[in-house]
Amino acid sequence: MTTIETTRVNVAGTPRDKAPEPEFSSTRNNGDRYWTPEFARQEWEALFPRVWQVAGRVEQIPEPGDYVTYDIGRDSVLAVRGEDEKIRVFYNVCQHRGNRLVTAEVGSLAGGEFACAYHGWRFGDDGRLNWVPDEDDFHADFQGDSPCGKRNLIEIKSDTWAGFIWFNMDDNAAPLREWLSPVAEHLDVYQMENMRRTHWVTIVGDWNWKCVQDNFNESYHLPFVHPQTLPAMNEHHSGSQFDMYDSGHARMIMPGGGPGPHYSGRPERAFQSLKPDLEFWKVDPEPYADDPSQLRIALQQAKRKLGESKGFDFSAYSDEQLTDNYHYTVFPSISFSMKPDGCIWLRGTPHPTDPQKCIFDMWYLTLFPKGSKEYWSNSMRDWVSIDHQAEHQTGVAGEVSCGPGIDQDVSIWSTQQQGLRSRGFRGEYMPWQERRIKFFHDQIDRHLAMGPLT
Ligand code: FES
Ligand SMILES: [Fe+2]
Repeated sequence: MTTIETTRVNVAGTPRDKAPEPEFSSTRNNGDRYWTPEFARQEWEALFPRVWQVAGRVEQIPEPGDYVTYDIGRDSVLAVRGEDEKIRVFYNVCQHRGNRLVTAEVGSLAGGEFACAYHGWRFGDDGRLNWVPDEDDFHADFQGDSPCGKRNLIEIKSDTWAGFIWFNMDDNAAPLREWLSPVAEHLDVYQMENMRRTHWVTIVGDWNWKCVQDNFNESYHLPFVHPQTLPAMNEHHSGSQFDMYDSGHARMIMPGGGPGPHYSGRPERAFQSLKPDLEFWKVDPEPYADDPSQLRIALQQAKRKLGESKGFDFSAYSDEQLTDNYHYTVFPSISFSMKPDGCIWLRGTPHPTDPQKCIFDMWYLTLFPKGSKEYWSNSMRDWVSIDHQAEHQTGVAGEVSCGPGIDQDVSIWSTQQQGLRSRGFRGEYMPWQERRIKFFHDQIDRHLAMGPLT
């Protein structure tokens, strides 16, 4: 057996402390919450208006007048950069008679105004209603005098973090960073604000949005849905850490950079699955044939040694972060799956009308090495370019790809949805390692118990 150097660099990186285990409710969820219109209505009225959500990437709207829209459930929001450089988020609805104001997904006003297609009301990039046709025909003794400057767009609480534009429909919501705690503190070192969105895929699928978040809240499925991960990471729960935070968010840390100590497959399989990484970081795997689980440390040391020469600044990462999978689920509907050079960002949100459908988004954010314009994204198995804004690929499941691993997750959700409605489904029955799912649903129930946000 090869003994590798044990010199480690002592960088704290993202805290690894294990969060105390929460209390779990004693209920066992059946399938109703995945398909009944009543449950979907409660989620829409009591849950989604109270949580911070993502409207888009800051990089999409670099100039004053640039805007991006985001449709969530029955609603739509409009994020626009004003002349003062400030990003504001508004409900995307005309205040005359309710027409959806902007139908484009991204665009630029270039000094102009938002003009409603119905009767031409015009709003500035600060949301102010600047002009209406026949302004002198509005009367105080009817519905009111001139609406200009009064019937402005309705602004929504918003903020930015990690290069994302966030909004919250609840005016009384806690500030973003506080609400995200401790996720924001943990993920700041990844510099997501410096990453570029190199993949942007949206799939409309036949499953409830919670199937997505359930799936990314457990790793029990990996040997079956992603068998290729066995030689590449220590996917067994015994090697992983699961954390659930008071804020409702959760985390899993799963060792990567090689298989776990329980791996009994051929070492060549491990070498093959790690090949692009091993080659890029100049690690000769042969000395680790007796114990491929040692590749993880060898890769960490190689990244530490060569990182700077390859254009990476890994100085804020701990050694573990150079190989391991730091996976965060942000309540209720987002996952951040972090790698030293990028993030797989995932979101499952409700369909506007059908609880058995979901809008599923996969973004890949790439951290380009300094000086590199082109980069081989190992996670996406794809060349990416810093000069190329990702095009939005949309389609139904099976039509567009979310990359090699996530496509496997997508392939399972519609059959799960079918089973969740079966008369023969008697409710979930989960092992301890899936407790993040239980925690997730307990958080949903906590929000629904608050009743509709008025
Ligand atoms: S609904 Fe927008 S101008 Fe009439
Ligand atoms: Fe998966």
